[in-house]
Amino acid sequence: MSTWHHGLVARWWAEFNQGGPEVEYFRPFVAAGQPALDAGCGTGRLLLPYLRAGLDVVGCDISQDMLAECRRLAAADGLEPTLYAQALHDLDLPRRFRTIVCCGTFGLGSTRAQDAQALVRLHDHLEPGGLLVLDIEETGSLPTVADQEHHDPPAERVQASDGSELALRVRVVEVDRQERRVTRAIQAWQWRDGELLAEEEHLLTESVYSREELTELLQRAGFVDVEVRSGASAWGYDMIVFLARRPEV
Ligand SMILES: C[S@@+](CC[C@H](N)C(=O)[O-])C[C@H]1O[C@@H](n2cnc3c(N)ncnc32)[C@H](O)[C@@H]1O
Repeated sequence: MSTWHHGLVARWWAEFNQGGPEVEYFRPFVAAGQPALDAGCGTGRLLLPYLRAGLDVVGCDISQDMLAECRRLAAADGLEPTLYAQALHDLDLPRRFRTIVCCGTFGLGSTRAQDAQALVRLHDHLEPGGLLVLDIEETGSLPTVADQEHHDPPAERVQASDGSELALRVRVVEVDRQERRVTRAIQAWQWRDGELLAEEEHLLTESVYSREELTELLQRAGFVDVEVRSGASAWGYDMIVFLARRPEV
């Protein structure tokens, strides 16, 4: 299983994936239950605004490159976030939390067995009575594999803050209908003064869940009072949000 949030893709996230409706959607949960963990915090799209607002929140992510970009962005504001480089299914942190938010991360770069294990790890990192707030994408049918491969960079390039230009292209490369897992490839390019500096390709696997399946997995991991909310928009997709509580005792 693999994730693509490395190298130029991490740089792209830091440069261009800031803001979005998820920041305010998840904020009240963090504000109401601290300390909080942003599980799969990436470059700190949620974490950094929460820290700037004085909330007690730390982050973890599987990608060292995303965390490095998060630290770089934080340093510009004089912040030094506590960040851990760990996969969700191996999560082993020295503290427990009142709230864990997991935005746009569950099901990425992992097998279904690892996802079930991740929910157990998240449960065990909550204080008794603590709340997990986790979203998945509202998906209909699985996509199909792209029948055409493009290898040339797209004409559209975006200027980064260091003056270089970046471009990305995503395609579906494999769909495992049995496992309900989609593998996408991302190509990334960087130019400076018209000269190609770097070209990368990474893969991202995503396991797709229905609300019934994930509700059952949460209950099996020990969560109670599982509530499923829909209708909120994330950046580029409709979210299904799961609220699940670790029992008081
Ligand atoms: C789509 S990004 C979302 C980042 C952030 N939550 C946000 O909303 O901006 C997904 C993040 O999850 C991380 N990630 C993917 N699979 C993971 C796993 N199995 N364990 C921990 N982090 C993972 C990636 O490195 C990436 O930073």
